[in-house]
Amino acid sequence: MTTRSGYSRTQIILHWLTVVAVLVAWFTHEGMEDVAKAAWRANEGPFPTVHTVAGALAFLMIVARLILRRRRGAPEPQGTEMAKLAATWGHRLIYALVIIVPLLGAATWFGGVRNLSDLHEIAAKGLMLAALGHAAMAIWHQFGKKDGTLMRMLRPE
Ligand code: HEM
Ligand code: HEM
Repeated sequence: MTTRSGYSRTQIILHWLTVVAVLVAWFTHEGMEDVAKAAWRANEGPFPTVHTVAGALAFLMIVARLILRRRRGAPEPQGTEMAKLAATWGHRLIYALVIIVPLLGAATWFGGVRNLSDLHEIAAKGLMLAALGHAAMAIWHQFGKKDGTLMRMLRPE
């Protein structure tokens, strides 16, 4: 992968749109269990809900970001070797979870694989924990260490 001095405008826009989509999916999960159960009971095909559409968009955008990352490249994480390693693996974990969570949701929703709903929930909670830690680190780097990390996701280079 090419190492760049910053993220492109498209990478930055996709980052923040993914954040919005993940948050919308998170805050609209309430009632999904009942909606899914009612659809299965009535033998109705799955229909779009805010939760499933937002989750699907998060999935599509994170895949687009991965493709873009491979083609265009990305900047190296900043800080000590340990901090760089933690950031690299933290980002990989977040990429993986934004792919796995919607896939588990889709398997529950479309496939009617009910026993996967627990895994979907656990993975979603893991994703939100990882994202929270990630946001805290970004804020700490920007305002504690003052190394401009947050600006990299705001100003294209
Ligand atoms: C990043 C995206 C997503 C997040 C953070 C997320 C999060 C959650 C959470 C926390 C629950 C509550 C689980 C429970 O109370 O049992 C849930 C339920 C559910 N979600 Fe998602 N979800 C996402 C994407 C999706 C997608 C893309 C689909 C389908 C295409 C989906 C389908 C469902 C269904 C069917 C349930 C109810 C499962 C049950 O029967 O308990 N989710 N989701
Ligand atoms: C659901 C929420 C979030 C997800 C899924 C997410 C995902 C990601 C991913 C995958 C990367 C790695 C980019 C790459 O190198 O390809 C990244 C970088 C970054 N994110 Fe997030 N993010 C979220 C929330 C946030 C929040 C709330 C903030 C700010 C408070 C933030 C600030 C940053 C910054 C500054 C970087 C660049 C780090 C660097 O260049 O070392 N993110 N994000």
